Amino acid sequence: MDSSIALDDADLPWIDLHGDEYRADPGVVVRAARECSWLARTAQGLQVLSYAVIKQMVADPDIDSAGPDYYRRMGGSELLVEYATNGMLPLIQGLRHDRIRKVLQTGFSGKRIIDMRPVMRQVTEHLIDRFADRSEFDLVADFSHHYPLEVLCAMIGVPERDIPQFAEWTLALALMSRAPLAPHLADIDRALHGLYGYFRELVDERRVHPKDDFVTTLIRAEAAGETLTEAELFGSLVNLLFAGHDTTRYQFVWVIQQLLTHRGEWNRIVADPALAAGAVEETLRLEPSLAGFVRQVSKDVVYRGIRLPAGTFLSLSAFAANRDPEVFPDPDRFDITRANAHMHLTFGRGAHLCLGNALARNEMTEALKIFAQRFPDLSFAGAATYSEGYSGMRGAEILPLAVHG
Ligand code: HEM
Repeated sequence: MDSSIALDDADLPWIDLHGDEYRADPGVVVRAARECSWLARTAQGLQVLSYAVIKQMVADPDIDSAGPDYYRRMGGSELLVEYATNGMLPLIQGLRHDRIRKVLQTGFSGKRIIDMRPVMRQVTEHLIDRFADRSEFDLVADFSHHYPLEVLCAMIGVPERDIPQFAEWTLALALMSRAPLAPHLADIDRALHGLYGYFRELVDERRVHPKDDFVTTLIRAEAAGETLTEAELFGSLVNLLFAGHDTTRYQFVWVIQQLLTHRGEWNRIVADPALAAGAVEETLRLEPSLAGFVRQVSKDVVYRGIRLPAGTFLSLSAFAANRDPEVFPDPDRFDITRANAHMHLTFGRGAHLCLGNALARNEMTEALKIFAQRFPDLSFAGAATYSEGYSGMRGAEILPLAVHG
């Protein structure tokens, strides 16, 4: 006999994503909710809190990515829905996803990422040089906002002179993770128009004058028979900016914030830069810049006694899973030598695993090493500022730092 209960009848904890308690310490709120259930209700829908359940869900053929309808449901414009349909890989389903991913993967080869390390170091040094003579700086405005974008632009093949315009567009694109979406639609549309127009010209140019960059690699992959439609090609390029800029920008700020909060760990990195990669990994676990990722139930399923009907949207919470004590002992402790930190779900899992994970990991590790070397006495110069309201993207908007301790 089926002893499962309907979702509507399940007694689930409520997480108030907009409440003061969550704002002050989401870890405490999530821990209390997980003690009641592996699933919680929020104003943004259902959140899955258990590591083991998320692992099972990402491998479940009856649970798929959210699909472009996600943005239609959120009230997105036609242009936004068109971009979600053809460019936003995490939302694209089935064989079409696999085909596009295969082509994009050619641009993310391990060799290309390793080859980018000198560029990462050069961009870091150059950005630091611009504020190194000041006693204080804002990690976001002076560094983190520019860094991933400049590395990405170098990788994609966007000339340096166009980077400021790109920065403006990507800031607007990042508004896609805000809820509600309506107040930001005009800005998002303007950025999408700008980016689509830009990439059309860039692709035309590279078709005539190929270079050793990502755009040329994609064009060559096409030429080798791995076809992308024009809409998929431009959409995918726009998506790289959406996927690769803000995520890394906020994540690097978390890295520095965590290390300065745990001063002893910062001092260890200063003494031994080889520990930088572990610090990045542990920060990815404890403070993911993306709170989670969305899935949709495509066929009725039962999980731990609860019936989830087809059409149910689920937010798989990386934040909660990464603090699941069943996987990470003493989960709220920041430990840069934690042996299994890399098992976090911050880059997702399964078919949609983040394509840029190696790029992001390398970017943050290279920058961290240089920060530790150039600013051994780095310290907080004021409190971090966060934006109002809930966003799936987590992190400080302003972080004042002092160069001399
Ligand atoms: C700290 C930085 C980053 C974080 C936290 C992050 C997180 C994620 C997550 C959670 C997913 C899975 C979404 C899902 O399953 O629905 C994802 C997918 C993706 N990410 Fe990242 N990402 C980061 C950096 C980057 C970078 C630097 C790039 C590339 C420039 C990138 C490109 C992508 C792409 C293309 C996908 C879609 C993969 C697919 O659906 O097959 N990401 N990312």
